[in-house]
Amino acid sequence: LLSIGDLSPAEFTRLVLNASSHKAAVKAAFGANQVPPKPLHGALTGKTVAMMFSKRSTRTRVSTEAAVQLMGGHPMFLGKDDIQLGVNESLYDTSVVISSMTSCMVARVGAHQEVADLAAHSSVPVINALSSDFHPLQTIADFQTIHENFPARTPSESSLGLEGLKVAWVGDSNNVLFDLAIGCVKMGVDIAVASPEGYGIPESMRKLILGAATGAAKPGKLIETTVPEEAVKDADILVTDTWVSMGQEAEKQKRLKAFAGYQITNELAKRGGAKPDWKFMHCLPRHPEEVDDEVFYGPRSLVFPEAENRLWAAVAALEAFVVNKGKIL
Ligand code: CP
Ligand code: NVA
Repeated sequence: LLSIGDLSPAEFTRLVLNASSHKAAVKAAFGANQVPPKPLHGALTGKTVAMMFSKRSTRTRVSTEAAVQLMGGHPMFLGKDDIQLGVNESLYDTSVVISSMTSCMVARVGAHQEVADLAAHSSVPVINALSSDFHPLQTIADFQTIHENFPARTPSESSLGLEGLKVAWVGDSNNVLFDLAIGCVKMGVDIAVASPEGYGIPESMRKLILGAATGAAKPGKLIETTVPEEAVKDADILVTDTWVSMGQEAEKQKRLKAFAGYQITNELAKRGGAKPDWKFMHCLPRHPEEVDDEVFYGPRSLVFPEAENRLWAAVAALEAFVVNKGKIL
């Protein structure tokens, strides 16, 4: 699972619904103790999941470790100072060796090619835990959050029934956006992206996002602008992410200047004409420059349920790719 682009609309729908139903079942049966009922209980017994992270992480690390544990497996966390990943050993050698001893590799890397190389040479499933281009586990959790907070219109086997919704992304065009946009196109959700000049979607990525329409009954539209108010118009969900992703620290001052005026606030939503009951989402970690406290901690914010859903997204992904060997049932 390198990107949501790897999934058909039906597979993506199934993963999101599985994440949501595992959450409901575990909570109903065991509340906060999170002891999983069948079929999760013991699904990974005797299996080790290697977690190779070359960058920091709170949610992805904790949700993956907790998900593996919940399913009876052993999460083996390998940080950038623990293994030779891409520093003192080739990705080929690393991939062949680690996959010979474990049942899955979950990898957070810099350039997307690194996780693609790991996957190309691995004998076990590889799950992208964030690369320069994509963040599929985040997108599964994000659609689970949308599914749980917006009534479905006409759900089917290949759609969550969210057609007609509009997402407004105001901020940097980055890894989190790219998979979210692919998910939106697949699910018939329109997505409007407002980024400053020079920080928009690269041409090759635009092609991938638009290509995600293949197989979707009624694909969502991609709208691009430099005007935040234009993106926000009639939006049901306002979303953003940091303006300075990991690895871009040296550009911080330049970026803060370039993104001035792109902060999500209630005033922006009002000026732009967002839908009256609009909601706010953010993958976290969050900085106040991209969204103010009033919105982030306000009643429209879904950010904490969205973060919790990372656990259920990880459970659904491990079930599909490790337990069911890539069959998304
Ligand atoms: N949203 C997300 O991936 O957060 P972390 O970087 O903390 O894992
Ligand atoms: N765009 C951010 C997401 C972190 C979860 C980054 O790549 O740092």
